[in-house]
Amino acid sequence: MEGETKPMRVLVTGGSGLVGKAIERVVKQEGGAREGEEWIFLSSKEADLTNAAETRAIFEKHRPTHIIHLAAKVGGLFLHLRENLDFWKKNLSINENVLQTAHEFDVAKVVSCLSTCIFPDKTTYPIDETMIHNGPPHESNWGYAYAKRMVDVHNRACFKQHGRRYTAVIPTNIFGPHDNFSIEDGHVLPALVHKTYKAKRDGTALEVWGCGQGLRQFIFSVDLARLCVWVLREYDEIEPIILSVGEEEEMTIKDVANAIVDAFEFTGPVNYDTSKSDGQLKKTASNAKLRRYLPNFTFTPFHAAVKETCDWFANNYSVARK
Ligand SMILES: NC(=O)c1ccc[n+]([C@@H]2O[C@H](COP(=O)([O-])OP(=O)(O)OC[C@H]3O[C@@H](n4cnc5c(N)ncnc54)[C@H](OP(=O)(O)O)[C@@H]3O)[C@@H](O)[C@H]2O)c1
Repeated sequence: MEGETKPMRVLVTGGSGLVGKAIERVVKQEGGAREGEEWIFLSSKEADLTNAAETRAIFEKHRPTHIIHLAAKVGGLFLHLRENLDFWKKNLSINENVLQTAHEFDVAKVVSCLSTCIFPDKTTYPIDETMIHNGPPHESNWGYAYAKRMVDVHNRACFKQHGRRYTAVIPTNIFGPHDNFSIEDGHVLPALVHKTYKAKRDGTALEVWGCGQGLRQFIFSVDLARLCVWVLREYDEIEPIILSVGEEEEMTIKDVANAIVDAFEFTGPVNYDTSKSDGQLKKTASNAKLRRYLPNFTFTPFHAAVKETCDWFANNYSVARK
């Protein structure tokens, strides 16, 4: 019957993180859940997904029909530079446990989360979904990148061998409330939010790591959450899909720092420490495929999303991850 929705019990792994909290907001607070849908948000406290027995036990408990798989060891450039081996091993075992157990429990659909930072370092731009395996990733994060690439290998093989419709999304840099705002280990935008907050509070200069000329595309976590829910319900390909703002919205790290400075009304000096790594200079991604499916999707304007993120951090300073 037209409009009929089948009951879905959706397990969101990594449900306590940046993206998981945004999906929770969309489906629980903004009324995005449809009738017949039940949403369960997991953190590592309920199950360590690097452990096969714990993964199985949590599937036994919840019996999901659908999964949005976000759980991962996640971090910024400087954590990757220090812990490539951990990124490889933890993400490989989390992904293997979740995807294998999903198959064993007859889960109809799994949407896993890759990242544009897993693409080849030497490539042509813009990057698109066909190019994931075309060459080695950037040396800064190859442990994470290879572990994530194997999700795509798993999905394709699982479709060929078992007919499973497991797929993946590929977001660009994500930011929003509930991010990890650690200065040492966080991604560039939340780390800059924390540094700017402290510089304003302490009356010191803002130190930006790197020359500020690196280029990135940023997606607000709440926009990504809406798109992930759409992928779960509507997107039927095994091939992954890049979820990003357009190429024309790529910006420098300096632009990002300026937006955060404006949001906090910070008036002190801003210095660039060029002795620190810039990471990959750019990873311009095409959202043409997304636009073919959703030509009218509206992204939250960058400055408004940055302001909301800075306000959230300031209002939740004592509890925010940092
Ligand atoms: N942030 C970005 O800029 C970005 C960009 C592209 C792609 N991604 C991808 O997007 C997804 C979500 O990232 P995020 O930024 O939301 O990450 P996040 O805020 O760091 O959250 C990570 C989530 O994974 C859970 N987790 C970590 N290790 C686990 C384990 N061993 N067992 C069970 N759960 C575990 C965490 O649980 P606890 O809260 O209990 O620790 C948390 O819920 C990830 O797959 C990431 O690779 C992120």
